Amino acid sequence: MQDRINQIMAEAKERLAKAKEMKEVEDIRISTLGKKGQLTAILRGMGALSKEEKKQIGPAANKAKGEIEKLINAKFDEVKEAAKKARFEAERIDVTEPGRANLMGVRHPLTLVAEEIKTIFKNLGYEIAEGPLVDTVFNAFDGLNSPQNHPSRDMTDTFYISDGICLRPHTSTVQVRTVQERKPPFRIISPGRCFRCDTPDATHSPMFHQIEGLIVDEDISMSDLKGTLDYMAKQLFGPETKTKFRPHHFPFTEPSAEMDVSCFKCGGKGCPVCKGSGWIEILGCGETHPKVLEVGGIDTEKYTAFAFGMGVERIAMLKYGVDDIRLFYENDMRFIDQFK
Ligand code: PHE
Repeated sequence: MQDRINQIMAEAKERLAKAKEMKEVEDIRISTLGKKGQLTAILRGMGALSKEEKKQIGPAANKAKGEIEKLINAKFDEVKEAAKKARFEAERIDVTEPGRANLMGVRHPLTLVAEEIKTIFKNLGYEIAEGPLVDTVFNAFDGLNSPQNHPSRDMTDTFYISDGICLRPHTSTVQVRTVQERKPPFRIISPGRCFRCDTPDATHSPMFHQIEGLIVDEDISMSDLKGTLDYMAKQLFGPETKTKFRPHHFPFTEPSAEMDVSCFKCGGKGCPVCKGSGWIEILGCGETHPKVLEVGGIDTEKYTAFAFGMGVERIAMLKYGVDDIRLFYENDMRFIDQFK
């Protein structure tokens, strides 16, 4: 019996010495000390032994049990510790490795120009009004007093989605929405995307941005329009900037005008930017046609209004000397990074 105990111990010790995983140690514990373990069997079989044998084997078996328990627990700790070390090793962070550069984003030049224009008008008490990109033909044309045969209504100029619905060809749609939604007096500007069936080239894009403005109040006249837009031009292009209003035509304004600014490149002497004329056209404007105000049920005896609309790309191109509109949409960081 003593030999059997010695043999169990020797075997267990040998297996423990080789064990590397928790599972292996656990298997050794089960096969020696478990319910059906080898030592357990000996201890259970004690009853059948003679008194003499009991005296001898009892303490020996118990001693072996205690010893093997200790060895197993020690091995458990050892294996656990080794696993922890291995994990730490695997998760080791090399603090000397160079960091990943966290590149700061920059704002798109169109955003910069739009923000600048928005700020100028916010400081004049204008609120931002927004409208959807897909709008009704009524808001794009009829509500703006556009005649049925106006060329801009053509399929070749405007993207139609379905009967009566189109991608807005200008932000003037927001004028129609605003006169219906608000009670005068109010002043709004509306920045956003517009769409026209244009083949892309250096100065055309089927998608572009405009900023619309509309003010409705008592006694609003052409001189308010001129004063406001002249102020904007000086803020945007510098205090030396001069403005000039040329008669034009829009169905939704009467009288209508286009505003030119003195060339900020040459100061008016004539250069390639202003094509030698000294002047650059930057927006369309005019006193709002009473028909537009009537769409919103505004009393045109009491209230008058002016409106303007400008292309953000055009202003950004002039301001930054960009010669191809397509550069704005390619999102090449080498281009965009220049406008920090
Ligand atoms: N909607 C006109 C355009 O796209 C610009 C404009 C707006 C003109 C408001 C007058 C008043 O060309």
